[in-house]
Amino acid sequence: MPTAIKTPTFTNVRSVKIAMFSTRPYDKESFLQANHKYGHQISFFEARLSVATASLAFGYESVCVFVHDFLDGPVLLKIAATGTRLIALRCAGYNNVDLETASKLDLTVIRVPAYSPHAVAEHACGLILALNRNIHRAYNRVREMNFSIDGLMGFDLKGKTVGVIGTGAIGSAFSQIMLGFGCRVIAYDPQPNKPLQEAGVEYAELNGVFTGSDIISLHCPYNPGTHHLIDSSAIAEMKEGVMIINTSRGALLDTAAVIDGLKSGKIGHLGIDVYEEESDLFYEDHSNEILQDEMLARLLTFPNVIITGHQAFFTKEAISNIAETTLSGISEYAATGKCRNAISLQK
Ligand code: NAI
Repeated sequence: MPTAIKTPTFTNVRSVKIAMFSTRPYDKESFLQANHKYGHQISFFEARLSVATASLAFGYESVCVFVHDFLDGPVLLKIAATGTRLIALRCAGYNNVDLETASKLDLTVIRVPAYSPHAVAEHACGLILALNRNIHRAYNRVREMNFSIDGLMGFDLKGKTVGVIGTGAIGSAFSQIMLGFGCRVIAYDPQPNKPLQEAGVEYAELNGVFTGSDIISLHCPYNPGTHHLIDSSAIAEMKEGVMIINTSRGALLDTAAVIDGLKSGKIGHLGIDVYEEESDLFYEDHSNEILQDEMLARLLTFPNVIITGHQAFFTKEAISNIAETTLSGISEYAATGKCRNAISLQK
């Protein structure tokens, strides 16, 4: 059974009409299960929320959306005009919402601040282990009865320096795992985390993390200030053969610069769960189509690159906690007009 996170219970509150966009079968299952306790009226739509589909939200007090629903000005204007008051993001990141326009329209935006930071941290760790020990390549070789280990040599994680950019919920969980491997962990975050320091994490300036790390893992939010945080000048500062892991948001990496780094060998390994141009690709089966994205096509040619399709969050525990926290937040809003998980413009 998934470990349930503790959410305040707001039962016997009025039932809210919720239009859920980008619904997948697992969303429906987890929300129906969690909704036994809350009794909201949920309509499940597979479509993404966009200007073209916004009319589906007509008369729904709340829309519930995920990472690839883009809530820009025109979409917000449309849903606000047809009765929506509450936007419930069933994810942690909120870079896909125009918060300024939402605030002007008096729309409340809530999110799930932490549903399982361990899920994402463990996935980042999985990418490191697979890349370092070439597990993806070994899997394919063995299936072809090729038991040669030439070219599969990795390195001990113990004693290596891991740089963590962003030590919030996920970055902290990730740092703890890396400390457990016997790594030295250095981190950059404008708001250092004291318990993590006591556990042995050393804080440094951003360029100190770039220059001093064998592995760099990104766990900060995406916003205009972190756009292309890893660009050609950042890569130039890094150690030869550095491993870069991104489970946060695609546009933290300047993908073209990363490809140059991979071609020159400056970047020794790349593990990404997110990609700058993922929104038209991820969560859909494109196996019968010709890939038009040249950068993704190039990335797929490198043996030292592993790409997963934004699945780092995808554990039983996380899915169950997302449904529970989202519905609890909607109930809190219905009961009090406020929600502790609301996003304010200052954040
Ligand atoms: P959080 O809000 O707990 O932590 C973010 C941390 O980043 C904070 O400590 C903040 O001070 C720090 N930060 C802000 N600006 C920074 C900067 N310029 N440089 C370095 N650090 C900075 O968020 P959480 O839950 O740890 O999530 C982190 C990110 O992970 C989210 O923003 C989201 O983009 C991504 N994510 C990815 C998932 C996936 O499935 N791949 C699932 C969930 C989240």
